[in-house]
Amino acid sequence: MLDYQASIDKAYQTLADSLIYYQGRPVGNVAACDRKSEALNYDQCFIRDFVSSGLVFLITGKTDIVRNFLEVTLTLQSQEPKMDCFKPGCGLMPASFKVVTTDTEEKIIADFGEHAIARVAPIDSSLWWIILLRAYVKATGDMDFAHQPEFQQGMRLILHLCLESRFDMFPTLLVPDGAFMIDRRMGVYGYPLEIQALFYTALRCAEELLLPLPSDPMRQAVEERIGHLNYHIRSYYWLDMARLNEIYRYKGEEFGITAENKFNIYATSIPSWFINWLPDVGGYFAGNIGPGLMDFRFFSLGNLVAIISSLAMNDQAESIMNLIAARWDDLIGKMPMKICFPALENRDWEIITGFDPKNIPWSYHNGGSWPVLLWALVAACIKTQHIDLGKRALAIAYGRLQHDEYPEYYDGRRGRLIGKEARRYQTWTIAGFLLAYELLNHPEQLDLISFPEDYRTITCEI
Ligand code: GLC
Repeated sequence: MLDYQASIDKAYQTLADSLIYYQGRPVGNVAACDRKSEALNYDQCFIRDFVSSGLVFLITGKTDIVRNFLEVTLTLQSQEPKMDCFKPGCGLMPASFKVVTTDTEEKIIADFGEHAIARVAPIDSSLWWIILLRAYVKATGDMDFAHQPEFQQGMRLILHLCLESRFDMFPTLLVPDGAFMIDRRMGVYGYPLEIQALFYTALRCAEELLLPLPSDPMRQAVEERIGHLNYHIRSYYWLDMARLNEIYRYKGEEFGITAENKFNIYATSIPSWFINWLPDVGGYFAGNIGPGLMDFRFFSLGNLVAIISSLAMNDQAESIMNLIAARWDDLIGKMPMKICFPALENRDWEIITGFDPKNIPWSYHNGGSWPVLLWALVAACIKTQHIDLGKRALAIAYGRLQHDEYPEYYDGRRGRLIGKEARRYQTWTIAGFLLAYELLNHPEQLDLISFPEDYRTITCEI
């Protein structure tokens, strides 16, 4: 018989052990405390990883840790406009940082991806930073904190970086491969859903946090982009039986403004797994859309964040939950939740991942199961009032995580195996579990990260 309370207490203790200090103050936590594996960069504090811990700290009244984190990371932001290609773009937040202590000093060293495997840039860090800042303000009621000039400036630099006109002319953000939680080559360059959902959420946060000014072109740009993104994602990324029937009968090579098939998707590119897998009732947002490209894979975090932030319309959110319930074994199985479905296999795996041995089919980013996603699943369940599904998912995690020493990820079609190269005592696994637990017990805390339904859509005829 499992002792639930003991399992929660143990997780809290482990979370406390993960903290790192700077000038005597807790400012973040390490990615993992696995004494049996080589640390690599898991001894650093990752911005994206800290978000689940940060939300737990906010809910449990340890708001000072989040405040310290936000202050310290703001000092690491790249703030000078540069034309040096080896320097991070102005506004970018690092992927991670560490505190280095020598005999004479203590200093913080940030990594913008220049030390990371394959040198991937962390586009999501800046977006998560704004999201956490808004959660902090919600939890403490301290709007003055976000209104401080250096915070306003930090936020504006991020917004500028995202909103500036660039090479393409879509409302979505164009990013390189591995720019977010999936930080390896996985065919997620272009316009991946996760980045778009985080971008949308960060814009809605910014709307609340920007100091009201009599006239502010930045606020205007934020509001306009929200409307365009709403339209673009809700219309073009959406997949359900009705959409499938449309895409199946698409004509190719349509030219001009009246084209129905805007992205020139060829119906023959619809994978057979998708036709069989899509339930009659249910739908989701595609993983990516670009010229001649529709990635039909289901990416969990992007879909869940879309629900939580109301990027998904209410009926779309309900449809995504229907799909999760209908495909429970594939998406939840023995550990919530699959990072994406299905895995890339055979020649696809060879070409798209470049034969990556860490991302073999049904492992790690390629269809592995990540316990950290549990919190986002539970949050989406609360948002759509499917509490029973959230409880069911949490019960699965309760049964395994502590026993398995909180692995980073699980492998296999149903997530039965502990990940081949997974770290143990992975902090966001622990925090994700605790956050799911706290959200189910205090559903009102969902307000920290969610937004009400948003009816502003601006048609953007691309
Ligand atoms: C891996 C994950 C990344 C995470 C990091 C630290 O690189 O892919 O998403 O931030 O580990 O846990």
